[in-house]
Amino acid sequence: MQELAIRRPDDWHLHLRDGDVLRGVIGDTSRHFARAIVMPNLVPPVVTSADAAAYRERILAAIPAGDRFEPLMTLYLTEGTDPDDVEAGYRSGLVKAVKLYPAGATTNSHSGVRDITKAMPVLERMAEIGMPLCVHGEVTTPEVDIFDREAVFIETVLDPLRRRLPDLRITMEHVTTKDGVDYIKEHAANLAGSITTHHLIINRNAILVGGVKPHYYCLPVAKRESHRLALREAAVSGDVRFFLGTDSAPHVDPLKECACGCAGIYTSLNTMSCLAHVFEEEGALDRLEAFTSLNGPAWYGLPANEETITLRKGREPVRYPTKIETEAGLITVFDPMFPLYWAVA
Ligand code: DOR
Ligand code: ZN
Repeated sequence: MQELAIRRPDDWHLHLRDGDVLRGVIGDTSRHFARAIVMPNLVPPVVTSADAAAYRERILAAIPAGDRFEPLMTLYLTEGTDPDDVEAGYRSGLVKAVKLYPAGATTNSHSGVRDITKAMPVLERMAEIGMPLCVHGEVTTPEVDIFDREAVFIETVLDPLRRRLPDLRITMEHVTTKDGVDYIKEHAANLAGSITTHHLIINRNAILVGGVKPHYYCLPVAKRESHRLALREAAVSGDVRFFLGTDSAPHVDPLKECACGCAGIYTSLNTMSCLAHVFEEEGALDRLEAFTSLNGPAWYGLPANEETITLRKGREPVRYPTKIETEAGLITVFDPMFPLYWAVA
């Protein structure tokens, strides 16, 4: 039996949804994680500080008794977002970041930003007050191949934005390419990247080989193997600019298993088991804590959690449900396609 104690992890990118799905999934996060940056792409989206305060209350009410969990709220950037409201939300401690979704990039992103110049007053204010911007780094131009969306975003949106507002702190969320990893490594100032669990494990073959596998489809879509390897290297490197953001994104099975399935992979339940496996495979178990529990808080200016969790590696594979039941329906849990031996004790 091998054991590893680490500071309690946080999830720096999480979809909790609302209502029945929220109540069905939140325990899978609050069981292991102390805090999470909660995505604002509800229908309608969380746009104002008042929306975030109300959503936070609904999240707190859904946490299973006995669990301690702190939702870190974000606002969904629109072309009409009010800089004063953003600043007030940030200064009050309620809102930790603003999220940029290019319009049409992913689930519930139609109210996102079409023309970034329209969002400049908000972005300028954020740069002034040190508030982080979380970005979904993909262009949505129809001419751009879906596998190139991230690289083109870096060149045509992110890099110009960083030049225009060098003081703006940007989290490039769910990095999926070597281009993204390299860009972050080469541009240290005011830039960090989150990496999901699933992008460390699957490449695009998982989605397409042997039939279409909707439960491996997410956005940004998984890329070719060389990109997965670059992500692994960044995640296990201990580099402070990379940390965990699971992007766990629950959709009930009928919305995944259909002619136009939703993007999103549900990993909250087995993320820590999967990550321990990956880090052990890379000979980097001693750097798991940096990725899950230290680098994220440092970037967001928060203290690391004092509490610890213990991971244990058993001789028999861990048994966990392949689907969870919610009042909204079944949600399929990410299958890493190898047995997991590590579990949170
Ligand atoms: O796969 C994804 N699912 N990517 C996103 O960016 C959004 C998310 C969702 O909300 O379902
Ligand atoms: Zn997401």
